[in-house]
Amino acid sequence: YVIGVDLGTSAVKILLVNQQGEVVHSVSKSYALIQEKTGYSEQNPEDWVAQTTSGLLELLSGFDGAAEDIEGISFSGQMHGLVLLDENNEVLRPAILWNDTRTTAECQQIYDAVGNERLLEITKNPALEGFTLPKILWVQKHEPEIFAKAKSFVLPKDYLRYRMTGKLEMEFSDAAGTLLLDISKKQWSTEICELLNIDPNLCPPLVYSHDEVGTVTAEYAAASGLAPATRVFAGGADNACGAIGSGILEDGKTLCSIGTSGVVLSYEASSDKDFGGKVHYFNHSAPDVYYTMGVTLAAGYSLTWFKETFAPDESFDDLLAEVGTVPVGSNGLLFTPYLVGERTPHADAAIRASFIGMDSSHRRKDFARAVLEGITFSLNESIEIFRESGKEIDTIVSIGGGAQNKDWLQMQADIFNAKIVRLTSEQGPGMGAAMLAAYGSGWFASLKECADAFLKEDAQYEPNPANVENYQKLFSIYQEVYGQTKAMNE
Ligand code: XUL
Repeated sequence: YVIGVDLGTSAVKILLVNQQGEVVHSVSKSYALIQEKTGYSEQNPEDWVAQTTSGLLELLSGFDGAAEDIEGISFSGQMHGLVLLDENNEVLRPAILWNDTRTTAECQQIYDAVGNERLLEITKNPALEGFTLPKILWVQKHEPEIFAKAKSFVLPKDYLRYRMTGKLEMEFSDAAGTLLLDISKKQWSTEICELLNIDPNLCPPLVYSHDEVGTVTAEYAAASGLAPATRVFAGGADNACGAIGSGILEDGKTLCSIGTSGVVLSYEASSDKDFGGKVHYFNHSAPDVYYTMGVTLAAGYSLTWFKETFAPDESFDDLLAEVGTVPVGSNGLLFTPYLVGERTPHADAAIRASFIGMDSSHRRKDFARAVLEGITFSLNESIEIFRESGKEIDTIVSIGGGAQNKDWLQMQADIFNAKIVRLTSEQGPGMGAAMLAAYGSGWFASLKECADAFLKEDAQYEPNPANVENYQKLFSIYQEVYGQTKAMNE
């Protein structure tokens, strides 16, 4: 057996997986967000550790085998969150998370000091509020007495792992989201550190996601029920692990994952392509390869907002029951999902959503279909960026909320103009973490072999040519709405 721990933003999900890739037991434990001011989003690292430890105890108490039967444990983690540690590796302040947006001034500071082009050359990414470096600069400026005590920084799952092994390191897929990594050379950028007065010694040693970085200490074993000396593998960023857990491990493979936010992610064999920073470009958790990714901030969140506002007492299934009877284009209604701003392609925190084209004959089912179409159009903007760069996207694995409804799956095929594949059991990032432990433990010669053994296709949805044509016309109208509504929020 292996264990995959997915340290998310709202909860930690722990999977116990056997050698056939079946989840034999799983546990989820939630924790709170601390939002002291608008735009702030923090968490207490001790909550991650406490909830993971109690989750492991519960998982193992429901397990028939012995703790010694568990050959390895690995991790998937929410990206970008800053955990600052002092000389004794004590946490200096609450972690500042990926969805914290207080750092607009620090993003400008990075552009001023490093320059847009140089930043893109080294990190392949623009300076965005969510990334880690702006958060480090924020503490440096606003909490100098805390910053003076900082001896290292890590990301959320690295801190959790440190508490299990007593050793600190970071792996490439999460380091890529800090804006301090030279992603091609796979080294910390001393140049960026120097330009921003950051001591490069703050950056911990770098390892691969499947590397064995230590074993569970006797103390953590006693607290969690794990066997002492259980092998611990570094793990990866949640999006990289989601990609592994969906088999995005070779050229031509693309993933659409719709949760609160939505992601379109595509495999890249090298870091040589130039997307001009329009999509994120990060190291994969498979060794020495990469992925590019576009993000829609309010994907599932738009649907949840719609349900809570207009159908609070119904289930999602009831709300969506009739969308299949509404024609392509929702009888002339169009929705843009910018409820909390947008990342790809606009990187605009101020833009807001819209419904346009309302007619007195429209009913709730038309609005529900328009919401699904708007979310999918937004994700299609990322797919367009990939295609414009010459990437061929003909098959997309769909996971998360978007894979739970067959009308939405067909809509994805028609809007993306690609075959959509659904998997039989999709566990996303947690499965990717378990697969890193399985590969690290030597069960398979490669992650690809592990994916071939663990992941199975359930259903396929082919694009319908007439719908594709209609959607292409509507998509160009959708793309114009951003420019036409931007002035309302400036
Ligand atoms: C990616 C991002 C989010 C987090 C969520 O850049 O900010 O998808 O990884 O955990």
